[in-house]
Amino acid sequence: MSLNDSLQARDALAVVHGLTNLSIHAKRGASVMQSGKGVWVQDIHGRDYIEAMSGLWCIALGYGNERLADVAHQQMMELAYYPLTNHKSHPRVIELAEKLLSMAPVPMSRIWFASTGSEAIDCAARLTWYFWNALGQPEKKKFISHQLAYHGNTIASASLSGVSYAHNKFNLPLAGFLHVKTPHFSRFADPGETEDTFSDRLIADIEKLIYLEGAHTIAAFL
Ligand SMILES: Cc1ncc(COP(=O)(O)O)c(C=O)c1O
Repeated sequence: MSLNDSLQARDALAVVHGLTNLSIHAKRGASVMQSGKGVWVQDIHGRDYIEAMSGLWCIALGYGNERLADVAHQQMMELAYYPLTNHKSHPRVIELAEKLLSMAPVPMSRIWFASTGSEAIDCAARLTWYFWNALGQPEKKKFISHQLAYHGNTIASASLSGVSYAHNKFNLPLAGFLHVKTPHFSRFADPGETEDTFSDRLIADIEKLIYLEGAHTIAAFL
């Protein structure tokens, strides 16, 4: 067995992959990438691929970006990490928050930093509950999101996601996480429907759901 093959075998024995069918994975093994430059990544067999997803949309500036690597190195040497809990902060996080506020497409008052999209969505759900509790409306607990939406794989974000693979066998969604039809005209319109009548039908479904659940119980729509 070559070193490369052994890396794939070691992956199968040591790593659990999210959003991956584990029994298929045990047979096919992982696609193991070892380097990247610009839009390209290369696997352990030396094959090049265009990484059209930019990682998970987080390598938008390309692989092997020297400016980013230099700044990261400098920051690691200056202050590798510092928490934001219990009134603590540091210059870079303040600068980044100000920058994001100046770029936000709608007025925002503050930035909450999270490490992943799933964590950000969980925090949004948690802060939504906190918000309604603070306003004295603790019964506003339910969330509405779309069938087929993907919001992440933590407990709340997977509940908000409208995909069966995130729910089945994971005891999800949690109670109070409601899903409405997917606003995807070309896939889900009835015969003869226009985009307008399709939208009207979906909006009517959301209104009916809110009416049946009680508007006073709805915390947010994602
Ligand atoms: C719209 C959306 N929200 C949340 C997430 C979850 O982000 P993460 O994978 O960083 O947890 C994703 C990830 O694909 C996403 O596309």
